[in-house]
Amino acid sequence: MHVPRFEKIWIGLGLATMAAFFITLVTLAVASGLNPPSTDGMTIDPTKVSQTPPFDKPGLHQSGPHTYEAYYVGQIFQWNPQQITVPAGSTVKFFVTSVDVVHGFSIPDADVNVEVMPGWVSEVDHTFKEPGNYLIVCNQYCGAGHAGMFASVKVTP
Ligand code: CUA
Repeated sequence: MHVPRFEKIWIGLGLATMAAFFITLVTLAVASGLNPPSTDGMTIDPTKVSQTPPFDKPGLHQSGPHTYEAYYVGQIFQWNPQQITVPAGSTVKFFVTSVDVVHGFSIPDADVNVEVMPGWVSEVDHTFKEPGNYLIVCNQYCGAGHAGMFASVKVTP
């Protein structure tokens, strides 16, 4: 097959540009230790979540007078724990991971919205000033039961 000389040059330039972009991207990602948003780079073996503390016992832990840490495990199609209860004025730091696919950990009535990826621990914190029942939903389509994947934070006066 005959390819005209100019066409060869342009194909070559196109491929060289793609290669240059690809190499730049990979180099920068590795050099800057890129990790998914909302994580401090904390990783976990997604096949051993149930044996890995503190995710072996998902739930709420008090870390100070008004501060809590909440460890959540996402899996199709539920959040564990189902419900946590804290008094109004509490700051809760959420640590969330997944054992299977990508989920979205979202509390629409609070500024909480993180992507949850297997292998990574996503972090977000929020201070619950008003009492009420805050719904936690999954906002990343994860399969047939996606719409039923919810939990809640109960904030008492
Ligand atoms: Cu989990 Cu959608």
